[in-house]
Amino acid sequence: MYGSIIQILLTGVLFCLTVFPINANHFDPHVYPKHGPFFEGWYVRISGLRQNRSFGILFGKVLPDSQEKARDTALASVLIYDPKHSDKLVSYDLFANDTDVNVTVKGGRSVTHDPDFESPADFRWEIKNACYLEVKPNRSRIHFAIGPIIVDVALGSPVPWGRKGVGPEGWLEHFPLPLHWFVFSLRSPVISYTIENKDTHMIYKGENTGVAHMEKNWGNSFPKAWIWSEGVDVKTNISFALSGGPVNFYDIITIPGYLIGYRNPLKGFDLSFRPVDNLIELIHNDGCNGEIAVKAVGIYYSVHFYISAKIGTFSECLYGPETNGFRKACTESYNAKANISVYRLGTLVDTHTIHNSALEFGGDFVCRKRCKQAFT
Ligand SMILES: *[C@@H]1O[C@H](CO)[C@@H](O)[C@H](O)[C@H]1NC(C)=O
Ligand SMILES: *[C@@H]1O[C@H](CO)[C@@H](O)[C@H](O)[C@H]1NC(C)=O
Ligand SMILES: *[C@@H]1O[C@H](CO)[C@@H](O)[C@H](O)[C@H]1NC(C)=O
Ligand SMILES: *[C@@H]1O[C@H](CO)[C@@H](O)[C@H](O)[C@H]1NC(C)=O
Ligand SMILES: *[C@@H]1O[C@H](CO)[C@@H](O)[C@H](O)[C@H]1NC(C)=O
Ligand SMILES: *[C@@H]1O[C@H](CO)[C@@H](O)[C@H](O)[C@H]1NC(C)=O
Repeated sequence: MYGSIIQILLTGVLFCLTVFPINANHFDPHVYPKHGPFFEGWYVRISGLRQNRSFGILFGKVLPDSQEKARDTALASVLIYDPKHSDKLVSYDLFANDTDVNVTVKGGRSVTHDPDFESPADFRWEIKNACYLEVKPNRSRIHFAIGPIIVDVALGSPVPWGRKGVGPEGWLEHFPLPLHWFVFSLRSPVISYTIENKDTHMIYKGENTGVAHMEKNWGNSFPKAWIWSEGVDVKTNISFALSGGPVNFYDIITIPGYLIGYRNPLKGFDLSFRPVDNLIELIHNDGCNGEIAVKAVGIYYSVHFYISAKIGTFSECLYGPETNGFRKACTESYNAKANISVYRLGTLVDTHTIHNSALEFGGDFVCRKRCKQAFT
C-alpha cells in the first residue's frame, strides 16, 4: 500500500531519470550546501572476530541550520563490543569543530563536485591529530585515536551492494530525499586490525580475520524514528542490512521508508527491497525488549527478518546528526540474533540465523524515547 503511495508521488518525475546513469558510488564525500541543515556521516562495523568481539567507527559533520550553533559540529566515535569484559556496547566519542576536519578526494584535492556516478571511491576524511578513514578503490585504512582507544585497521576490496555502484536506494538516490543511505561494502575483508586501550592495557590484534560493513548517510538530519540492522556470517558469507523509518516527504505525507538487502552467495540469492517496488512492513518493533520483525515482499521472493538482542547488550545513548548538530539519538547492540527466512512464491527456500549482528533503535523508536535529547 505504502509502496503505491510513493509510486504515485514519484511517477510524475520518473521520466527525468533516464538521463542519469545508475552507476553512482556515493561513498565519496558530497559538497556541502551554502546553508544548512545538512550532514554527512560514515560508519564502518567490523565483526567476525575471535570471541565474538566487534567494533565500529563512525564520524561525520553537521552544517547546522543556524550560524550560532556552529560549534562542535564534527563527531568521531569508536564503538567496542568485548563480551569478555562487558555485555554492553561501549562508545568513545570525540567532538571537533569544522576547522579541525579535512576532507579530500583523489589524493588531496578538495571536494568541489558531488560523487560523479562513475569513479570508484577515493577519499580521505580526517579530524586532525585524531582520526582518519582513507578509502581507495581496493583498500581502506582506518586510524582512530579517541581518549584511551587507538584503532588501526587495513581493509581489502569492498563487496558492493549492487553492480556499478548501486546502493540500497537504487535510482531513488537521485532524488532530493530528506535522508540518504548508501552501503559501500557488505563485507570487506579485514587484512589487519589492532585495538588498544591505553587505560586497561588491553590490545587486540589479528590478521585476515573478520569483515567490515561500510556505509554512509547524508541529508538534512536523521528522521524522528528509525531502526537499522546489519550482519554477516563469515562462515557462509551470508549478509544482510536494513534501515528505515517513517519518512516525511515535504511535510505532505509520511511513509514507512525501509530499505533491505539480503545476500546468500552459496544459494545465489541477491535480494534487495525498496518501498517503491516492494511491500515492506515493520510488523513488530519493541525497543524495550530489543526486538524487531520486518517483512519484505517482492514479486517472487519475500524475506522475513526477526532480529533481537538482549536489552543488557545495548549501548548508552549514541549521538546522531540533528539539524543543530550531533545529539543523543539512538542505542545499539552488536550482539543481536537475526533469524532470516526467504520464501519463493510462498515456499520456504532459505533460512539462516546470523549471530553478532548489529541492531539499532533511533529517535522515538528507542525504549521510552530515552535518547531524545533536547537541543540546548
Ligand atoms: C559467540 O557467539 C555464539 C553465537 O551467539 C555463541 O554460541 C558462542 O558461545 C559465543 N562465543 C563466545 C566466546 O562468546
Ligand atoms: C570549538 O570552538 C569553540 C569556539 O571557538 C570552542 O569553545 C570549543 O571548545 C571548540 N570545540 C572543540 C571540540 O574543539
Ligand atoms: C588535508 O589532507 C590532505 C590529504 O591527506 C593533505 O594533503 C593536506 O595537507 C591536508 N590539509 C590540511 C589543512 O591539513
Ligand atoms: C582493484 O579492483 C579492480 C576492480 O574494481 C580490479 O580490476 C583490480 O584488479 C583490483 N586491483 C588490485 C590491485 O587488486
Ligand atoms: C567468502 O567470500 C570471500 C571473499 O569475498 C571468499 O574468499 C571466501 O571463499 C568466501 N567463503 C565462502 C564459504 O564462500
Ligand atoms: C526462525 O524463523 C523460522 C521461520 O519464522 C522459525 O521456523 C524458526 O524457528 C526460527 N528460528 C529461530 C532460531 O528463532
